[in-house]
Amino acid sequence: LSKIEVKLGDIPEGKNVTFKWRGKPLFVRHRTEKEIAAEAAVDMSELRDPQHDTERVTKPEWVIVIGVCTHLGCVPIANSGDYGGYYCPCHGSHYDASGRIRKGPAPLNLEVPYYEFLDEETVMVG
Ligand code: FES
Repeated sequence: LSKIEVKLGDIPEGKNVTFKWRGKPLFVRHRTEKEIAAEAAVDMSELRDPQHDTERVTKPEWVIVIGVCTHLGCVPIANSGDYGGYYCPCHGSHYDASGRIRKGPAPLNLEVPYYEFLDEETVMVG
């Protein structure tokens, strides 16, 4: 399927759910207030691939990214690593709760696919 519809009501706050989309893992993360505030406050000068959180999300509660490490393509582990977002165990890349690379060999942030919210409870990716 080229598009996937995700029911957001099934994803509790603080959880990341992995879907399969176009043969790749798709992460949909329901962020907490604390995560939203922390990511919004990150100084761009700390970032290897500088992107403000607002450039990566449409609604602050929802992070939607491709679950493929930008180093050599392993699948990172959610809610893990030094920055509370994702951790790639293959060679130790740490991503934050916006999916931005913060430490380790990966060069780029986790990719944000095209998506749109159909209503409060549904997002269409692709
Ligand atoms: Fe993720 Fe190398 S593939 S750190």
